[in-house]
Amino acid sequence: MNVEQLLETAAAMVAAGKGILAIDESTGTIAKRLDSVGVECNEENRRNYRDMLLTTTDIGEHISGAILFDETLRQKGRKGVSFVDMMNEAGVIPGIKVDTGAHPMAGFDGELITEGLDGLRARIKEYAELGARFAKWRAVITITDDTPSNANIEANCHALARYAALCQEAGIVPIVEPEVLMTGSHDIDTCYDVSELTLKTLFTHLYEQDVLLEGTILKASMVVAGDKSKEQASIEDVAEATISCLLNSVPASLAGIVFLSGGQSELEATQHLNEMNMMGSLPWALSFSYGRALQASALKVWGENPDDNHTAAQQELAHRARMNGMATLGKYTTNMEGS
Ligand code: 13P
Repeated sequence: MNVEQLLETAAAMVAAGKGILAIDESTGTIAKRLDSVGVECNEENRRNYRDMLLTTTDIGEHISGAILFDETLRQKGRKGVSFVDMMNEAGVIPGIKVDTGAHPMAGFDGELITEGLDGLRARIKEYAELGARFAKWRAVITITDDTPSNANIEANCHALARYAALCQEAGIVPIVEPEVLMTGSHDIDTCYDVSELTLKTLFTHLYEQDVLLEGTILKASMVVAGDKSKEQASIEDVAEATISCLLNSVPASLAGIVFLSGGQSELEATQHLNEMNMMGSLPWALSFSYGRALQASALKVWGENPDDNHTAAQQELAHRARMNGMATLGKYTTNMEGS
């Protein structure tokens, strides 16, 4: 294991004022996103959309790295340069999603287990050769009246730890993502309890499997009420609950924490992150790894006219990246949205 390389990459991923752009939607998920703006989902349009995002002027100013899907890591952009080369030139670290998706867990109705461990050592080796320097694996924890089960949390955290160990063996920084879904009618306290149990279980497995926390990034979901809950929590309550949960569950030696947006609006995701970073000194850098909360406006503008709206869409992405960059410093205000 090349410890120095892991530490260097992990530190760069959560450098002050920067965060990660998640554009690793699987073919099924990107089809939904392109469909939503009336663009056909074929290889060329997927390539052109991601090319538009990654060629944003000065993208490296607030974006430290981008997580790609397998197809994108192997593709060339519109000008014939590989995405990996373009990203390195722009100061954006190439990352890769390596799990093969969340599937129904046998015996546990309504719960999902993430697959992809078989053959992972060889795939990671190839991804490293193609230029990836970090990876992502997403586990999904579902809250209902009857879930999550301990078996589901255990199985998902065990897989996350095995994945993380394989990444580090190859000099790749693992992002471990145990996403507690915000769909449901549960309250914020339930989300807190499930998030705490999940994180404590995850860090036990990472310890057992000898994963170097200084070379690992946690991608966390925020502690929020379910999207169908009648009692939505305030920005301050979400920030306080999330920080309290993390302080109770995440070792201080971890390289950093980045959040997913999980269905929050662009504005909410930025406000929550800013509020947390305003709460004073924390043991880890707290940043973003948003998918929808970085892309929503850019996708909408691009979809209206993919050829003509290229630059206008890039300006949307650049703006969200800048707003979230400010939020990593606790210096964001809603007044900046007009800038
Ligand atoms: P969202 O920010 O859209 O939740 O996506 C982040 C991600 O990568 C989920 O795995």
